[in-house]
Amino acid sequence: MYPTRRLQRFRSSSAVRQLVSETRLSASDFIYPIFIDETISSSEPIDQLPGVRRFSPDAAIEECFSIAQLGIPAVLLFGIPKNRDATGSAASHVDGGVQRVLRTLSQACPELYLISDLCLCEYTRLGCCTTEDEQDTLHLDATRQRYVDIAISYAQAGAHCVAPSGMVDGAVKSIRLGLDQAKFFDVSIMSYAVKYASQFYGPFRDAVKSSGDRQISRLTHQLQPTQVREGLLEAELDDSEGADFIMLKPAGAYLDMLVRLRMQTQLPLVAYQVSGEYAMLKHAAAQGLLDERGAFEEVYIGMKRAGADLIVSYAAKALLSSWQHDV
Ligand code: PBG
Repeated sequence: MYPTRRLQRFRSSSAVRQLVSETRLSASDFIYPIFIDETISSSEPIDQLPGVRRFSPDAAIEECFSIAQLGIPAVLLFGIPKNRDATGSAASHVDGGVQRVLRTLSQACPELYLISDLCLCEYTRLGCCTTEDEQDTLHLDATRQRYVDIAISYAQAGAHCVAPSGMVDGAVKSIRLGLDQAKFFDVSIMSYAVKYASQFYGPFRDAVKSSGDRQISRLTHQLQPTQVREGLLEAELDDSEGADFIMLKPAGAYLDMLVRLRMQTQLPLVAYQVSGEYAMLKHAAAQGLLDERGAFEEVYIGMKRAGADLIVSYAAKALLSSWQHDV
């Protein structure tokens, strides 16, 4: 006897497959990372991130306009400074590359949500996420103070949101207090709350030219990959300290954490497909092992199925361009 519940009915045409689709991908799911390099005059490719470029501040502004035109609602800005020092002082320069891009876009491109990555690792000589002065608690106090200064500098330049990515205890609380004291009540915080010490950040170090980085172990402040409850605690703390968005990073190897975080927090949940995860797919596609667009879509659908509201993706621009060609 053929079963009365014939699930194949849901699969028999493209129309019915669309009707019953439980998970959808659209332009508004994506946040696109932009690398702003103060040392170059237009743009250049990033060898280890095929298809992604570094931009001068002026070229980054142009790039952001084309991102907005594709319907992508948000960009995540990373800065590469001319000079690095022990306190990452370039990160809060009023005329820094990120600040220049923020000032122009916040006026000229109001439809784009402007998020600034907030960390010291692109701005310190050794590539640490903290200041380089190694005096334990004092040094973390100094780091939190630097984060506040940088957050205020981004807010003054027009950022809608700052994204602290250093996993420093108490950073969200300090930044929230600092922004409120400076009367930036409407500037949001997207916390890299659940961030694992991952091998998959490799190509990012090339993207931000952070060479000293390789010698530094992130295990002293990022989560070791074995942790579940500690990750949930990080998210709970950042939620209570005033985070507006909770980020999980990397996403691909930690989909179980997306499911768990979805059940724990009512805040928007952001999944970051990091540089190594992106590069793996690009290289496999270049070898003809899989269809690039299909593979990226499948991975992103997986993140949404697991509970992500938003996805940080280096592939978003190419993906959205290919969708536009379809219509
Ligand atoms: C730190 C930061 C990193 C990434 C985003 N923000 C590097 C790190 O924590 O080591 C990695 C992103 C990626 O690999 O795509 N500012």
